[in-house]
Amino acid sequence: MVEEKTAADMETIVSLCKRRGFIFQSSEIYGGIGGSWDYGPFGVELKRNIKNAWWRDVVHRRDDMVGSDTGILMHPRVWEASGHVESFTDPLVDCKSCRRRFRADQVQDSVCPECGGELTEPRLFNLMLKTFLGPVEDDASLTYLRPETAQGMFVNFPSILEASRKKLPFGIAQIGKAFRNEITPRNFTFRTREFEQMEIEYFVKPGTDEEWHQRWIQERLNWYLRYGLTRERLRLRQHEGDELAHYSKATSDIEYLFPFGWAELEGISNRTDYDLRQHSAYSGKDLTYFDEESSTHIYPYVIEPSGGVDRAALAFLVDAYHEERVLKRQRTVLRFHPELAPVKAAVFPLLRNRPELVALAKDIASELRMHMPVLYDDTASIGRLYRRQDEIGTPCCVTVDVETLEDRAVTIRDRDSMDQIRVPIAEVKDTLLERLGRG
Ligand code: GAP
Repeated sequence: MVEEKTAADMETIVSLCKRRGFIFQSSEIYGGIGGSWDYGPFGVELKRNIKNAWWRDVVHRRDDMVGSDTGILMHPRVWEASGHVESFTDPLVDCKSCRRRFRADQVQDSVCPECGGELTEPRLFNLMLKTFLGPVEDDASLTYLRPETAQGMFVNFPSILEASRKKLPFGIAQIGKAFRNEITPRNFTFRTREFEQMEIEYFVKPGTDEEWHQRWIQERLNWYLRYGLTRERLRLRQHEGDELAHYSKATSDIEYLFPFGWAELEGISNRTDYDLRQHSAYSGKDLTYFDEESSTHIYPYVIEPSGGVDRAALAFLVDAYHEERVLKRQRTVLRFHPELAPVKAAVFPLLRNRPELVALAKDIASELRMHMPVLYDDTASIGRLYRRQDEIGTPCCVTVDVETLEDRAVTIRDRDSMDQIRVPIAEVKDTLLERLGRG
């Protein structure tokens, strides 16, 4: 008899992430730092799997996409041209009593949410993190840690176009860190000051932009569904006119129902020709595309699907989380899609005080390790070992028992159904690969 509960609260997720080595508070031994998180052994695997799946699906499996990896530090004029110096701001209010600061849209009735004190009038606060290049800290050496990866792709448009010989429509993809001096980082890894983005700048002929915008919205929604997010916990939301970023003609967000409510997972914007035109004007360089059909130089329009790796990881964690009561015992299980699971299989000896079982289990683990991330564990009873793997979402567990020495077969236990099958050692690798969808 299995009773199931799916939706977890944030406290449960944060505590599981810490306990099982997914995510830790940055600099925790010094009391932590706001808006920065560290990924531990399983968290980093989850994140890599998300990024690899994204890269494979949007770059390797498409003929109209190429990749890039541009610098976090860029010429400061980039941020003037892009409009970020002028417009990348949030309205900020100060509490006159406790001096805390809040985003104006996150407080109600001009009252401090912490102490009830009176708040100042909103003033604009630029979210870019400043830094200085070289030994002298003056205006001439001032630049910014990029607040989005996008600009690296716009300023490289002519070089990438020439090197790749692509024709419109085509896109550039990039994964990388971005930084924002968020006034109120919150909700665990949802809103942080340092995060990773997975961005596409897809260049199209003007006039075809609206159609491509709709295609990318569907494409990106389907991507989250393909890797297991629940349909009912995903929705599309179109931005109102006054919500649009300074570069956008239209934006639709893919929102996920996190434990703290519906919130943006990815934004898909129609950036028009804004960025290429701005960089042409500010740099004096030609960022046009020669359209053979009309024999004219044009500025392509840009559709930009821009997602956060950390937000995707959080959504996949929340969605995977299940609590069950199995035969009156509590079981916590992360039902990750096999592609995203940090560890694909774990191998145990049933009895850790039997050297022949331990040696054989270690051999099987090393052989499997050539084909997938595998964990060997003999530090607890079999029941506990299964529970540990359930909590990190390992799809399959392989157990070597006394009978294995006779019949050269092991037990494979399925994470979701908990069904067990007996498989000859020689067939374990292929059986696992098949179960992981790589057969
Ligand atoms: N280039 C467009 C752009 O940066 P955005 O909506 O500001 O657009 C895109 O950011 C994605 O980056 C968001 O959908 C979100 O997933 C992620 N993101 C933005 N700010 C973030 C933050 N402070 N912490 C974590 N992720 C963030």
